[in-house]
Amino acid sequence: MTDKPFKIAIAGLGTVGAGVAQLLNMNHDHIKQRCGRQVLLNAVSARSKNKDRGFGIEKFQWFDNPLQMVTLDVDLIVELIGGADGVAYDLVKAALQNKKQVVTANKALIATHGEELAEIAESNGVNLMFDAAVAGGVPILHGLRDGVCANKVSSFMALLNGTCNFILTTMAATGRSFEDVLKEAQDKGYAEADPSTDVDGFDTAHKLAILATIGFGIKPDLDHMYVEGIRDIKADDLSNAAVLNRNIKLVGMAKYHKGKVVQYVYPALLPVSHPLADVPGNKSAVLVTGDYVGDLLFLGAGAGQNPTASSVVSDIMYVARGEKSLPFNIPVQNLSDSLPTEILEREGAYYLHIVVAANADIEKGVLPEIETILSEHDISLEELVRAGPAGASGQDLCFTTSSTQEQVFLNLLEKIREIAEVISIRFIRME
Ligand SMILES: NC(=O)c1ccc[n+]([C@@H]2O[C@H](COP(=O)([O-])OP(=O)(O)OC[C@H]3O[C@@H](n4cnc5c(N)ncnc54)[C@H](OP(=O)(O)O)[C@@H]3O)[C@@H](O)[C@H]2O)c1
Repeated sequence: MTDKPFKIAIAGLGTVGAGVAQLLNMNHDHIKQRCGRQVLLNAVSARSKNKDRGFGIEKFQWFDNPLQMVTLDVDLIVELIGGADGVAYDLVKAALQNKKQVVTANKALIATHGEELAEIAESNGVNLMFDAAVAGGVPILHGLRDGVCANKVSSFMALLNGTCNFILTTMAATGRSFEDVLKEAQDKGYAEADPSTDVDGFDTAHKLAILATIGFGIKPDLDHMYVEGIRDIKADDLSNAAVLNRNIKLVGMAKYHKGKVVQYVYPALLPVSHPLADVPGNKSAVLVTGDYVGDLLFLGAGAGQNPTASSVVSDIMYVARGEKSLPFNIPVQNLSDSLPTEILEREGAYYLHIVVAANADIEKGVLPEIETILSEHDISLEELVRAGPAGASGQDLCFTTSSTQEQVFLNLLEKIREIAEVISIRFIRME
């Protein structure tokens, strides 16, 4: 045990920042015992000095401008402002350039500028830690860096966005529409006023990029991912999925396909027996497959003040104990280029929802015609979920297909669209 306290400064005292300050205070003695030294919060910064944060800020040095903290006599700076660019980026970069250790929970920053920032951290011999950036309170990055590092990872499959998980779980349980449940999530504070980052899949993509970088040793590159969100999921897709003994989840996946790492974010039908199918709305989960360990499931609170503070403070304690690791586990210069993910090369099965004219004869006309087109594409109809009236506007024809390549599947859809009685088609991928 050293007498010298480990001094830190926190930029950002919102949900996570306030949680970190409170955890450091509440578990002060416990943290001291486990670090072998005191962890001392010296300085803080936020936009408004007068806001009630649930704890007193008088005993800390206050900074209106967090960039002024990088020259302070502190060992570590915690960035909890958020955003890929702007002050969060400027602060982390300047702190690392000033040889300060850095802990952040900012996935957008690491997914966008991680390579550059990790390079500065490495050349200045300091830690850049970001465990809370992926799956909040779930210690997935520590698990990958330390617990799984002997393995060659072959795949990640993960539920990484609480808002999407809440919306899809609630839609399935209540039969309500996406718009209706999104509004409830916004009213309850689970979803942002502008929900695009969450529901269009970008938040999941940021976290997946970080997982893929640590797991596969490839550079984080958001442009090389395929990203699709959940806005087009309808309540009857979820009820039809239930008939198929499946749930619909927004999944992030990274795996080897034809010798390269592909990275997908899309809503998918998962069998109810799948480890991710029943993950509740407030949890995140990452299923990792390693060549020696097999499947490992990391599951827990993916967001929220206390769980996220838990991850941030664990990172702080790791550094305070004098431990050191490379931000992405291998030197940045050894990361290989990520290659573009071609969704047309995806192989898998599909769920189809076709709306057919009200006066069409599905059984004797449309369905046999579709089956002929399917067999011309070497695809079979696996399970017929629904064939019948869907109000005055038409009839529903819902079924699943055998596995095929997405390009072949899209060619098939073009042919089905040519059938005169077909009004519209939508599909969801199956895993
Ligand atoms: N919330 C979660 O559950 C969660 C989970 C995992 C990761 N994260 C990540 O953690 C980070 C923080 O999230 P959060 O939910 O705590 O955000 P938040 O509640 O919006 O807090 C942001 C904080 O940053 C401060 N801030 C904004 N601009 C600033 C500036 N120019 N200078 C100084 N301070 C500034 C704000 O000050 P004022 O308070 O004065 O406005 C506020 O205290 C983000 O990167 C987020 O992605 C959050």
